[in-house]
Amino acid sequence: MKKKLLGALLSVAMVATLLVGCGGSSAPATEEAPATEEAAAEEEAPAEEASADATTYKIGVAIYQFDDNFMTLYRNEIESYFASLETDTVKYEVTTVDGKNDMATQTDQIRTFITQGMDAIICNLVQTSSAEVIIDEVVAANIPLILINREPLGDNGDESYAGILDNPSVCYVGADARQSGTFQGEIVLGLENKGDINGDGKVSYVMIVGDPENPDAQYRTEYSIKALNDAGVETECLVEQVGNWATDKGQEIAATALSQHGDAVEVIFCNNDGMALGAAAAIEAAGRTVGEDIYLLGVDALEECQQMVSEGTMTGTVLNDHIGQSHKAVDVTIEALNGNAIDNYYWVDYVMIK
Ligand code: BGC
Repeated sequence: MKKKLLGALLSVAMVATLLVGCGGSSAPATEEAPATEEAAAEEEAPAEEASADATTYKIGVAIYQFDDNFMTLYRNEIESYFASLETDTVKYEVTTVDGKNDMATQTDQIRTFITQGMDAIICNLVQTSSAEVIIDEVVAANIPLILINREPLGDNGDESYAGILDNPSVCYVGADARQSGTFQGEIVLGLENKGDINGDGKVSYVMIVGDPENPDAQYRTEYSIKALNDAGVETECLVEQVGNWATDKGQEIAATALSQHGDAVEVIFCNNDGMALGAAAAIEAAGRTVGEDIYLLGVDALEECQQMVSEGTMTGTVLNDHIGQSHKAVDVTIEALNGNAIDNYYWVDYVMIK
């Protein structure tokens, strides 16, 4: 994958012609709209000197859905971090596309990236069950593939995924969602009453699930409760419903649960902060008070939720480090672009916020 330019010997025009479709191309890039302002500025700059020695790498970034609080922070950071790493001789032309939460759309986008001759692809799968198709096509095109945020699971759910392990040019960069679930449970365990507000010997909870197909949702749902049970705390699930990571759904589910179960609801666990923001609004509308007669947990540590935790309107959240994860994804992409070996898995830790 190393692209040492033949630049010194060839004219800019010749280099551009020679390298079309086979990896790094000589700047300025011609065809696509650059994703960053820096890239735009670069394109407007006078063509010659700087560009003669510059290598431009084309990076395709496929996000499952732009309309997602957390993935918006994540994708913006990918773009700005790539831009910050540009030098006079190395440019990154990043094209980021919205899968609109539709796997068929995303598959088309990945195929387009392949025909566009992307040098590397970063993909946040819409459906992890479609990992194989995407991996096979990208590997066959000899393009490094960096999967992010949605981990394809192995056969028994606890094993690393063979499609990743078998391919040295494919990796997953993410955070172990078991850890975030465990932290949610531990935050409750750290409370004086361990979540048992009414003292009936068990914690009665509502679980608002992100997306049942997503391992982050599965593990957070399981491990938050497991942490309580492992510590000998009895639990009772009043409601478990899918909120698709979305604030409005979180609000709707929490409102219905609170009107159906009233004071019996002691803890609302949300698989992410987006849904917790909705649940917080429902809690307020129901006249309940977090920290007094109910507890509320999320994951991500969105800025507004960190603020709520410090004010006490949310019990706790878990930092899902989008900066650490996006930087790792970009660093690994660059390793691959430079022809260096990459690992199959890279993990970034969660951090408890209470
Ligand atoms: C985040 C969610 C986000 C989801 C997208 C999760 O890790 O916690 O907020 O919606 O990723 O896949």
